[in-house]
Amino acid sequence: MKLITDIEEMQAFSNHARKMGKSIAFVPTMGCLHDGHASLLKKGKELGDILVMSIFVNPIQFGPREDYASYPRDLKRDLAIAEANKVDVVFNPAAEVMYAQGFQTYVDVAYLSKHLCGLSRPGYFKGVATVVAKLFTIVKAQIAIFGEKDYQQHLIIKKMVKDLNMDVDVVGMPIVREINGLAMSSRNNYLNNDERKAALCLYTALMKGKELFENDIKESGIILQEMRSIIEAEPLAVIDYINVCDINTLEDLDKIQDTALLALAVKIGKARLIDNCILG
Ligand code: PAF
Repeated sequence: MKLITDIEEMQAFSNHARKMGKSIAFVPTMGCLHDGHASLLKKGKELGDILVMSIFVNPIQFGPREDYASYPRDLKRDLAIAEANKVDVVFNPAAEVMYAQGFQTYVDVAYLSKHLCGLSRPGYFKGVATVVAKLFTIVKAQIAIFGEKDYQQHLIIKKMVKDLNMDVDVVGMPIVREINGLAMSSRNNYLNNDERKAALCLYTALMKGKELFENDIKESGIILQEMRSIIEAEPLAVIDYINVCDINTLEDLDKIQDTALLALAVKIGKARLIDNCILG
């Protein structure tokens, strides 16, 4: 496995690989890898000849009061996991390398970024789309794999690729959960034992929403109220949002026709956790 920190070196590696007729699959990450990432790497290995993973905690997707400084970083552990998952290249640039003095070009997927997490994290998706566009240009991947826990992010990246005619296939992979239902996330590292137990309310609420839908309750108001009361019964949980929305536009739905996205963000202690499920 190769570790590359330099942009030109990464581009040269990818140019050479493509000249040799190899396809490149790419998994962008911010490190602190878990089994969710491992499922993306496994898919990448299946879909491409060469598997590149980036580890880059992207400063421009964090707000001024967010956890950029304290975001969990453990490169040594991440490299061991990458190696075990047969990654060919880890791209791990420094922030100053990615954002040189005078950097001023951003990608804004304007409308999709205005919903859900975009409301409580202004600028977040602009930071995500910008870094992913840069990484796509550097890594020159034909295939990129994203987790569907970040459903909105996945949708935004697909839209960016379409709108900017990028030649990348964006593949989504299902949420990986712990046995008790908690969605895997690097931010689960922030949770102490009590908070970890409390965090189960996200999954419980989603399952309640799903059950109501499957019992023919199609009014979002009723579903949301039941879900809200499950989360509010958990003293350590503070709701950021719970929404029933269109799976493509992310617009709120009053009534579900065939399908909908149930999405929520809840703060438990220091951790802001997100989760979702598709109905129908
Ligand atoms: O999902 C993530 O870990 C990040 O948002 C990504 C896609 C690596 C961009 O920094």
